[in-house]
Amino acid sequence: MDGNRDSNSSRRNAYKIRRKYRKKRRNERLLIRACIVLPFLVVLVGSGVFAASSIITHASTIYVETQNIEMYQDGGEPQFKTVVTVDGDLEYVLDKETGYTVADFVADLEAGNALSITCAVGDTYIDSDGYLEGSYAIDTSLVADYEAKLMEEWRGNVNVEIVDGSLEVKNKTGYWEGDVFTSWDGAVVSKQWVKVQGESYYLNEEGHKLTNTEYQEGITIYTFDENGIVTGTENCIDPDLPMLALTFDDGIGSYTMELLEALEEYDVRATFFMQGSNIQESEAEVLQKMVELGCEIGNHSTNHPDLATLSAAEIEEEMETTDALIYKYAGVLPTVMRPPYGSTDDEAEAVINYPIINWNVDTEDWKTDNSSDVLDEILSEASDGDIILMHDVKSWSVEAAIEAIPILLEEGYQLVTVSEMAEAKGIDLEDGEVYYMFP
Ligand code: NI
Repeated sequence: MDGNRDSNSSRRNAYKIRRKYRKKRRNERLLIRACIVLPFLVVLVGSGVFAASSIITHASTIYVETQNIEMYQDGGEPQFKTVVTVDGDLEYVLDKETGYTVADFVADLEAGNALSITCAVGDTYIDSDGYLEGSYAIDTSLVADYEAKLMEEWRGNVNVEIVDGSLEVKNKTGYWEGDVFTSWDGAVVSKQWVKVQGESYYLNEEGHKLTNTEYQEGITIYTFDENGIVTGTENCIDPDLPMLALTFDDGIGSYTMELLEALEEYDVRATFFMQGSNIQESEAEVLQKMVELGCEIGNHSTNHPDLATLSAAEIEEEMETTDALIYKYAGVLPTVMRPPYGSTDDEAEAVINYPIINWNVDTEDWKTDNSSDVLDEILSEASDGDIILMHDVKSWSVEAAIEAIPILLEEGYQLVTVSEMAEAKGIDLEDGEVYYMFP
């Protein structure tokens, strides 16, 4: 009679667990539920009918169901979850020596000690970051020890039925809709890369993936095929050949456009550190030309003060006013800054949120009004990794630069922007850090 009561209470217990577990289930998984619950009911009826037979009375069935889980790629290791339900006598002793019961076995299954749960794609187990998106079968099995006991000493007293779930790995950014990539919050992804099924795609300003074209980012030129897959990359700068960064301060000047036209003619780039008080609406075209040619735009304060003498708030205002003017007319923000007179202090460096670019070659164009002096200075000083200081508000300086460009190219120099040179030399520019050259 005790055995009967135990059996009844364990059935009630099993029901309770089952009810709890049913509540959690969702409608879309009805089919799976039907598969589990039906054989379950048959066993219940069967155990009632054959209550007299000791073997059947004590035979418990444990159902282990690994839940379907969803995660985003790069989300770390998948957190597998199992639901364990029991039909049968929880108190039944499986191992007379240790007193190990069905309930103990259930506890080990719930704790995961008795289970091995894996998820594999081919021969590769999914157990670390960086999965490919997709749906993967989860393989749930008993660890060898328990498997052996079930087949031998526990045989006829307890059965285990396993239902495997699946792992759905979703792209961490979003999903395709035609050639547009939409982020999970519904926004169209633009002007950035996305990685889908191991391939990288670039979404343009309108959110369409680039196909059959080239795209340059930093010093790298990417080539895309008709499906938008990157088929090749090439550096527009050879890191093994010498290079220079020509830099021009205090503009926009009257000669800046003339200089830009020369840069375009020779297909080279320079960096312009502009002073807010010299940026007028009428010069928007000059700024746009800089962007179009791939020149780098830098902030050179608004009123050209010595930043080391200003308060943090005053420095911020000097920077922000010029940022806003550049953004208004060029549609981009500066990527670097140069302090007037190359002067900063710790306080200034702490509030400047750009890499601070000084120079190692001063052409001293402010000491002369003769272009040949400036040209001599450039040609005698130039060496690989140099940052050369000039002013595009001075006609003789622009004249010297235009004369220097073909000579420097002839000497084998690549004429690049400050950030391109840093990247080519493997230097990560950091905000608030002062740089003089990239040897
Ligand atoms: Ni200046």
